[in-house]
Amino acid sequence: MKIVSVINIKGGVGKTTLTSNLGAYAASQGKRVLMIDLDPQTQLTFSFMTPEYWRDKYKDSKTLKNYFDTIITGSDEIISLSDLVIHLNPGNILTFSSGTLDLISSHLGLIDIDVKLAGLINVQNSTMYSASFLKTHSYLTHSLEEIENDYDIVLIDCPPTFNTTVKNAILASDYYIVPAKLDYLSTLGIEELKQNIDIFTDEYHNHRDNLKDLRYLPVFPAMLGVVPMMAEIRKGDEPVFLQALKI
Ligand SMILES: Nc1ncnc2c1ncn2[C@@H]1O[C@H](COP(=O)(O)OP(=O)(O)OP(=O)(O)O)[C@@H](O)[C@H]1O
Ligand SMILES: [Mg+2]
Repeated sequence: MKIVSVINIKGGVGKTTLTSNLGAYAASQGKRVLMIDLDPQTQLTFSFMTPEYWRDKYKDSKTLKNYFDTIITGSDEIISLSDLVIHLNPGNILTFSSGTLDLISSHLGLIDIDVKLAGLINVQNSTMYSASFLKTHSYLTHSLEEIENDYDIVLIDCPPTFNTTVKNAILASDYYIVPAKLDYLSTLGIEELKQNIDIFTDEYHNHRDNLKDLRYLPVFPAMLGVVPMMAEIRKGDEPVFLQALKI
């Protein structure tokens, strides 16, 4: 199972669009795909069902909020991600494929969850800090390990921020992919994102060295690349598709 975060701190660059399309494409090619909607805006979820349908069937019992709630309330048993999976059945994509497309939906309440998760980090002394830092940022890593054999690919649609849930996604990921618009300021942000990920993973390794706890493995999320989104391919003065129409 390979885990890929689709991430960019900048909003509206096509993270959700890329996640849903990559997921659907991989499933159409026979892969067992799980998409995780980590964004409280819930837009990946609403790319596959109406808000009304989600409210009726899943809002109360099958979202990432249910998962993080069990963590925040200090429950002994954290809910398994497999209990939250929604099996999608986009017939037009999967008719000729043995692949599967699953989703774990999000919830607007994840905004509050993130604040509470960050509050679990205890800075009283260096040992407590290291222990709570590692634990708070590794929930997703450990929960995804439990479903390691169920999927070929996990795609995580991150919100446009660098918060505690996104940091969980980074530590859980083998790779990350950065959709981006190719204007000047957006391209500056890509380098900054990469630096932030490197600083965060270095911090994780320092706490790991400090604590010497074998439950926390070294992580090396690798950048798969930047995907230009909303780009128009031009030849001369005109978009390529327009030229094609004239032929
Ligand atoms: N290649 C594209 N061409 C045209 N429109 C696009 C393309 N990719 C995305 N869009 C549109 O741009 C808008 C923003 O895309 P999307 O929601 O995927 O971005 P996002 O990075 O996930 O946003 P957010 O940061 O709010 O989560 C959407 O309305 C989407 O339909
Ligand atoms: Mg999005």
